[in-house]
Amino acid sequence: MAQSLETIPNNVDLGSDRRLQRALEQWQPNFLSWWRDVGPEGYQTHDVYLRTAISVEPDGWATFDYVRMPEYRWGIFLVPKSGERTIGFGDNLGQPAWDDVPGEHRNALRRIIVTQADTEPASVEQQRMLGKVAPSMYDLRNLFQVNVEEGRHLWAMVYLLHRHFGRDGREEAEELLARRSGSSDKPRILNAFNEPIDDWLSFFMFAMFTDRDGKYQLAALAESGFDPLARTTRFMLTEEAHHLFVGEMGVDRVVQRTAELMGQGKEPRKEGAIPLDVIQRYLNQWFTLSLDLFGGEVSSNAADFFAAGLKGRFREDDLAEHKAMGQTYRLEVPENGKLVEEKVPLRNAMNEVLRDEYVKDCQRAVDRWNKTLAKNGVQGLSLALPHRRFHRGVGPHATAKFDPQGRMISEAEFEAHKEEWLINEADRAYVKSLMHGVFERGKMASYIAPPAKGINAMPVDFEYVRAPGA
Ligand SMILES: [Fe+2]
Ligand SMILES: [Fe+2]
Repeated sequence: MAQSLETIPNNVDLGSDRRLQRALEQWQPNFLSWWRDVGPEGYQTHDVYLRTAISVEPDGWATFDYVRMPEYRWGIFLVPKSGERTIGFGDNLGQPAWDDVPGEHRNALRRIIVTQADTEPASVEQQRMLGKVAPSMYDLRNLFQVNVEEGRHLWAMVYLLHRHFGRDGREEAEELLARRSGSSDKPRILNAFNEPIDDWLSFFMFAMFTDRDGKYQLAALAESGFDPLARTTRFMLTEEAHHLFVGEMGVDRVVQRTAELMGQGKEPRKEGAIPLDVIQRYLNQWFTLSLDLFGGEVSSNAADFFAAGLKGRFREDDLAEHKAMGQTYRLEVPENGKLVEEKVPLRNAMNEVLRDEYVKDCQRAVDRWNKTLAKNGVQGLSLALPHRRFHRGVGPHATAKFDPQGRMISEAEFEAHKEEWLINEADRAYVKSLMHGVFERGKMASYIAPPAKGINAMPVDFEYVRAPGA
C-alpha cells in the first residue's frame, strides 16, 4: 500500500506548499516502484523491527516498531532554525545564511546536492542481495535499517531539489531513480557506488569506510551557507551515526570471532571464520576506495565551494579562523619518480583537509579492532590502515604506485605484491563460501561474534524480522 502525502512525517509544513506537494506526489509512486524493483530482494513483505523518524525532538525522533519496508514512513526533516544563522566561513563570512538558492551558486549547489543524493539509492541497490545470506537476524534488521534510512536520505535531498530548484530539480529527482548501481549505460555517479556488495564482510567495510566518507561530506555540508541544506544534513547525520556503528562493530565482531579462535590456538579458516590477512585486504581495498571519494588533493572546485560558503570544513565552529586565506597546506606528491613537497593555498586543499579528519577517525576504529585482538590473546599481529597514497584512483597519487606504507615502488613491484595487499580471487571465493543465511533467533554465522547488546534495549535473540504470516 502506498502512503499518501498526508502521512509523510515532516517538519517542513508540506501541506502549505501546493507546488511542492504536486511534485512530491508525482515522484512518490516512482520512488516506491524503484524500492520494489531494486530494494532488498525477498523481504518486501516481512515485518522488520525498525526505527522511524517522526519528529526532530530528542525524545521523539525515533520510534521502534514492526514495519513492512514498502510501508516505511519516509519523512522529511530539517533541524529547526535557531535564531538568525550567519555564514560561518569563506568570503561571505558573517553574512546572513541563505533561505533560498542564490542565483550565482545555483549550478554548484545543484551539483553538490545531486552528487550526495545519488549515493543514497545507490547503496540500497548495491546491498539488495545481502538479506538472504545475513549472518543473523540482528544483522538482517540492521541492514534493512540502513537501507530504509538511505531511502529517507534520498527523500531529504529530493525535497531540496523540488523545493528550491524548480523544473531542473524535478528532472534531477527523476534521474536519481533512473540511474542504477553498476549499470553500463546509466551508472551511479561515484565509482565506489557501482561495486556490488554481495558478502557481509564487504557490507561491514562499506558501512565502516564508505558510509564514513558520507559522514564527512554531510558534516561539511552541515556548515553550508544555504541554510536548508545545512539543516537537512544535520538531521541526516543523526541517522548516519547508526550506519557507522553497524560498520565499525560489524568488523569488530568479525575480528573478535577470528581472535577468539586464534587465542585458543585454532586455525580460523578451519572453523569457518575469516583469517586476519583476508580482513586486512578487505580493509585495504575499502579504505582506499573510500579515500578517493573525497576528490583530488588539489582542487579548484573545493576552493570555490569554500570561498562561496557552500561547503565548509569539519566542525568549522571549532576552528580558530574561517577564511582560510593566505595560508598554505603542505603536500607530498609524486613527480618524475620521486616524492616532492608542494605548498598549495589552503582553500585548494579543502578535500585533503576533510580527508585528514576522516583518516584520524578510521585510525581510531582500527585501534579498537586491535584492542579486540589483544584482549583475546592474539599477540604480535594487528590490523593497520594503509597509507593514504596506496592504491589511489584519484588525485596525484594515482599517477604512481605505492606500497601500503606509502613508499613509492615500481609498477612491477606493485603487481608482484598486489595479491597480498588487495582482495584476491581466493579471498573472494572463500568469503563467499561462508555466506549462508542464519535466521534462527540469537544464532550467529561461523565468522562473526554476537553483538554485546540488542537494538533498542531488546535482547540479542529478539525476533527482529518476521516472515509474513508468522
Ligand atoms: Fe545516507
Ligand atoms: Fe548511511
